Amino acid sequence: MNVLVLGGAGYIGSHFVKQALKQSHDVVVIDNLLTGHKQAVAKQAKFYQGDIRDKNFMNRVFQTENIDAVVHFAASSLVGESIKDPLKYFDNNVYGTIVVLETMAKYNVKKIVFSSSAATYGKHETMPITEEYPTIPTNPYGETKLMMEQMMKWADLAHGIKHVSLRYFNVAGASSDASIGEDHRPETHLIPIVLQVPLGKRDHITIFGDDYNTFDGTCIRDYIHIEDLIDAHLKALSYLEQGNDSDVFNLGSETGYSNLQIVKAAREVTNHPLPMEKGERRPGDPDKLVASYQKAKAVLGWEPKHNISKIIESAWKFHQKHPHGYEE
Ligand code: UFG
Repeated sequence: MNVLVLGGAGYIGSHFVKQALKQSHDVVVIDNLLTGHKQAVAKQAKFYQGDIRDKNFMNRVFQTENIDAVVHFAASSLVGESIKDPLKYFDNNVYGTIVVLETMAKYNVKKIVFSSSAATYGKHETMPITEEYPTIPTNPYGETKLMMEQMMKWADLAHGIKHVSLRYFNVAGASSDASIGEDHRPETHLIPIVLQVPLGKRDHITIFGDDYNTFDGTCIRDYIHIEDLIDAHLKALSYLEQGNDSDVFNLGSETGYSNLQIVKAAREVTNHPLPMEKGERRPGDPDKLVASYQKAKAVLGWEPKHNISKIIESAWKFHQKHPHGYEE
């Protein structure tokens, strides 16, 4: 298939590009490079620098390229920033997706795989979270992802655009050859921040909050390796290619790790004492987020293959090889 990847220079997008090329797809990338890195995009992909909100630009790309399917990663994705600057999120994420769907309808492109989030669920008491759980986002980021999913539902009804929305839990790790990995600026995610300690970039890790309603008082998250996550996107593309209906799937591992368990696992992987301090709670953090992936397993035939040690190991290899990320 000729696949158009929106946000293909970002952390997740660039891993999709690499694996899609390996599976013999043709790949066209759009990225505005505001947070993405051109160096992360495999050379065999055709690259367009531009913004999904720019209708003329989007028309030009769709006119030039014969697109079979879209994979949509282009979005602002920081929960904290979304609370401070919600309209930026509605503009980039929601308006951006309006332009994407309009352009797809105009050029008769009928398949889209969409990068959604566990943030669409909000807070829940009972784990694991299935796709049947109510979606009550607690921040603008999650709200925009939910609105984007809903827009796709109505675009299916009106224009026959079929979508698969993939609700990611906590994505981490790097490609198995350590050539590409996570390089967010600023970095806010636990695993890359923990690894900055053995890299010599910070003295200690601060764990935000130790009075959550969990077995050791720190938040619990469900981590998924980037290559497992991408495998689900490729399976979702085949699912759409086979003419199946629009649907939504969780991507997680059904296993939760507390923040303290992550630090412990990172100590084992890096063989570093990894000094740790306890800090204040970070506003908006739910106690526990663990996904059920039974639906993705039953319908897409997908299962995660990497455990937490493998996830941290692959991230560690990437950061050791690229201590300054893509800056070198
Ligand atoms: N944490 C620390 N110290 C740090 C950084 C993070 O203790 O320096 C903690 C957080 O407070 C949280 C846990 O580590 O308890 C995980 O935090 P991350 O920022 O790595 O991930 P989140 O669970 O907050 O965010 C993820 C995705 C978001 C998505 C969200 C859904 O990265 O895109 O899940 O709730 F929106």
